[in-house]
Amino acid sequence: MTSTVESTAPAATMPRIGDPAPSFTAVTTQGEINFPADYAGKWVIFFSHPADFTPVCTSEFITFASMQEEFAAYNTELVGLSVDGLYSHIAWLRTIKDKIAFRGMRDVEVTFPLIEDVSMDIARRYGMIMPGEDSTKAVRAVFVIDPEGVVRAVIYYPLSLGRNFDELLRVIKALQTADHFEVATPADWRPGEPVIVPTAGSCGTAKERMENQDHGVECEDWFFCTKKIPAEEVESAIRRDQRGWEPAG
Ligand code: BEZ
Repeated sequence: MTSTVESTAPAATMPRIGDPAPSFTAVTTQGEINFPADYAGKWVIFFSHPADFTPVCTSEFITFASMQEEFAAYNTELVGLSVDGLYSHIAWLRTIKDKIAFRGMRDVEVTFPLIEDVSMDIARRYGMIMPGEDSTKAVRAVFVIDPEGVVRAVIYYPLSLGRNFDELLRVIKALQTADHFEVATPADWRPGEPVIVPTAGSCGTAKERMENQDHGVECEDWFFCTKKIPAEEVESAIRRDQRGWEPAG
């Protein structure tokens, strides 16, 4: 018996993990940008928010801006977008700086670019408009884009739910660690915790792993092996040092 899926929702497109990030030119609060070309060689968190002058978005912008240097330490830039216009963006960011405090953060200046997308062209191309949630506002989408301009992670939140910024930073660190050490990271991984070594690709390697666990690799079973990488080794591989960024590799 064949199964059928019926849906009344129009088909939407969105960049998927592994796709090149769709390119565009946009007006932002920091001038025009060519995306993702202007960010070649850097990681980018490209995110949307539903609307200026709304409380959850305000709390998110204060948090993003307060963590901007921390993201920069991992060679990661922030780029925001909403379907509001440039003057709304400017007025909102000034209001945030002049008037709003959140969790002890106050007087916060947002210096990363915030894209105006009144036509919704970019939001639609990135699958940020979800009509079942709201057809006139972007949901809280997050695209993590790597230094080659490839989408590496996609996270969506609904309008009512502010993002978890520890998780966004964890995603950046985990992706960079996976690339640098050629490993995977298990559930809730944080730097310093064991990483997953690639699954054995042959019976010989599987046997060797199970019988000879003395190379710092510990196996629960042939397909589930971990090794420890000290937090300092992870951080020194992925974190920009005082002398400037040295690419991982
Ligand atoms: C907010 O950011 O507070 C918000 C925006 C749109 C809908 C609901 C909440």
